[in-house]
Amino acid sequence: MKRGKSDTKLDKLDRFVSLSRQKSAQILLAVAVIYVLLVTLEIPFVFDSGPTSETSTTLARFSELQSEQVLQDKDAPTRPLNWVSHNFSRRTQSQLAASKILSSLGFHPNTLDPTKKDGSLDLLKAAKTAWEEGIKLWDEVQSGKAKLLEVSNLKNISEACPISVTLSGSDFLKRGKLLELPCGLTLGSHITVVGKPRAAHAEKDPKIALVKEADDEVMVSQFIMELLGLKTVEAEDPPRILHFNPRLKGDWSLKPVIEQNTCYRMQWGTALRCEGRGSEADEETVDDQVQCEKWIRDDDDISEESKATLWLNRQIDRTKKVTFDWPFPFAEEKLFVLTLSAGLEGYHVNVDGRHVTSFPYRAGFTLEDATGLAVTGDIDVHSVFAASLPSNHPGFSLNRHLQMSSRWKAPSLSVGSVELFIGILSAANHFAERMAVRKSWMQHRLIKSSNVVARFFVALHTRKEVNLELKKEAEYFGDIVVVPYMDNYDLVVLKTVAICEYGVRTVHAKYIMKGDDDTFVRVDSIIDEVNKVPADRNLYIGNINYYHKPLRYGKWKVTYEEWPAEEIPPIANGPGYILSSDIACFIVSEFESHKLKLFKMEDVSMGMWVEQFNSSIPVEYVHSLKFCQLGCIEGYYTAHYQAPRQMICLWEKLQKQGRAQCCNEMMIRTSVNERPKCRNRERMITRLGEMRTGSWMRVTTWGDCPEKLKI
Ligand SMILES: *[C@@H]1O[C@H](CO)[C@@H](O)[C@H](O)[C@H]1NC(C)=O
Ligand SMILES: *[C@@H]1O[C@H](CO)[C@@H](O)[C@H](O)[C@H]1NC(C)=O
Ligand SMILES: *[C@@H]1O[C@H](CO)[C@@H](O)[C@H](O)[C@H]1NC(C)=O
Repeated sequence: MKRGKSDTKLDKLDRFVSLSRQKSAQILLAVAVIYVLLVTLEIPFVFDSGPTSETSTTLARFSELQSEQVLQDKDAPTRPLNWVSHNFSRRTQSQLAASKILSSLGFHPNTLDPTKKDGSLDLLKAAKTAWEEGIKLWDEVQSGKAKLLEVSNLKNISEACPISVTLSGSDFLKRGKLLELPCGLTLGSHITVVGKPRAAHAEKDPKIALVKEADDEVMVSQFIMELLGLKTVEAEDPPRILHFNPRLKGDWSLKPVIEQNTCYRMQWGTALRCEGRGSEADEETVDDQVQCEKWIRDDDDISEESKATLWLNRQIDRTKKVTFDWPFPFAEEKLFVLTLSAGLEGYHVNVDGRHVTSFPYRAGFTLEDATGLAVTGDIDVHSVFAASLPSNHPGFSLNRHLQMSSRWKAPSLSVGSVELFIGILSAANHFAERMAVRKSWMQHRLIKSSNVVARFFVALHTRKEVNLELKKEAEYFGDIVVVPYMDNYDLVVLKTVAICEYGVRTVHAKYIMKGDDDTFVRVDSIIDEVNKVPADRNLYIGNINYYHKPLRYGKWKVTYEEWPAEEIPPIANGPGYILSSDIACFIVSEFESHKLKLFKMEDVSMGMWVEQFNSSIPVEYVHSLKFCQLGCIEGYYTAHYQAPRQMICLWEKLQKQGRAQCCNEMMIRTSVNERPKCRNRERMITRLGEMRTGSWMRVTTWGDCPEKLKI
């Protein structure tokens, strides 16, 4: 295997050397001339406009030659030319860096045709808005209007992450019925509210019931506890990350219910109503807890007498199973102790020590966004406690300043064509993830020598200071491409197009790979995979799913409007796939002429585009499970869901042992002893990926599921 690989490399080199040997005299001469021009006249280099001139193709060859040389790690006949191209790239470096922070993908919101009948229309509309907002934000950042907090302030902020917060009822009132959680929540955080619901009062226009006659009144007692994203948006209501609304009296169903929901950008999601029936057996659970517990549906409370009888019976005959339902957990004028906790899969609410409801996390929010707790409505709050809070402010790690070391800067772009371009999806506030990538596989010699180029693709954040930090980081490390739209879960496909655009136009790479910032990439094995396909073929390599049908129900459902066909084309899993540049070229030009069909899942979109391309030009589909979607397997090409610490660990193992071994220090806790079913596992891990709550939770290495379940 290993031998075979190096043989092909040697072959390739031989072929190349013999080809170019005839030309080498001419080439040498050309380079000498260029070099003299450069040194004597100090002309800013001519190639900035693109590799169209004769000279640039010549140089492209040199860089190719150089790349083979690095692959070989030994002296090659062209060694003397090495330093020429080295000096050369130094000259263009600063110019390239300056112009290339912003993606040059041509998205022109104004040219969008809103009458176009297409499944992608909604997505394009969302993209238009996000793009317009994003450009505005970026202009602000560029113009220097937005100011960055001083380092001393940063220190203050990072120190202002209390592990716990306690407020008495009166203090809570004074603060506008709001408990601030400066650094949000993290896995395992919990908030306890001690309160007493007020007696029902008459309301003429209750929002939770229908009034028959104009003057009718309804007796209402309800309260609302909400986790708010206080810092995520400006100039509109903060998103409600969790809306928990017990309605003791007054709900239209005439029964006590608990409604739970989320509201983002002023749009309510689908409510989860618990009406006391309990969840169905086949309903999705949250950390193995049902979403809704059962309770006695009659309003009359179970009497003290019958409670005592039940207890007595149990004492007398322990073998007898006694089922006992509790009443609705809240009652007017009755003190309760409610605890809300953040689990792996969702929020759990316990009242007076008993589990009542669980609410699965919804996409679009992270725990760290939950920066406030509000309790309003017909309730007297006696006290509020929040504990096990995160100790670090997510956006302002002091550590950040210490990590600004030139050691991790990206090498300059080489002028000629590059073998492989790796575009990495990232989010503005994922500094730690990016840093781990910089310190691990981006240190690969092929990347250091610019034969392989890797860049992060980041959109803009709603918080100004995050964007400012991002700009600073981009300027410093030179490895970030800003795609100027307001980041949004559904628009990640735009980043994929931007990766293609950058790979084709800026880097001139032969192959383009897409990864995530929690994907570990074994650069040399990717190159080997690519080289197995003859150079003149188009390719699409990854962990490919064949013959999938869209799910029409459940959490991952795809509507008929979004996806009318019954079949999904073969798609490579999103965390790591590779394309040839012709396909990327096709995608960019289709996009810029508004002909590209977009779908919110970027990997499905890619499958669709490649299929379209394949209908005219054949594409070689290469499938390998070593592009691991669900974590890490021995001998991986890519490993996914790798937390920053594991990235470093994988890299160290590769360096020290020379083998692709996993770093699975920890397994994900499951309450059952057996291995969880594939389906649940996928769901669980996907959530973990979304949460990014810290290194110790996001690990799994049970191997790959036989089927892919994302869609
Ligand atoms: C080019 O690089 C070589 C070796 O790195 C150095 O000796 C030489 O001075 C450089 N020339 C210029 C013009 O920078
Ligand atoms: C931190 O902020 C508080 C008020 O917000 C201020 O009184 C204090 O001086 C600040 N400390 C530092 C080190 O800047
Ligand atoms: C690609 O195109 C060829 C020729 O039209 C076809 O036979 C093949 O099934 C296509 N592959 C995929 C995966 O769609």
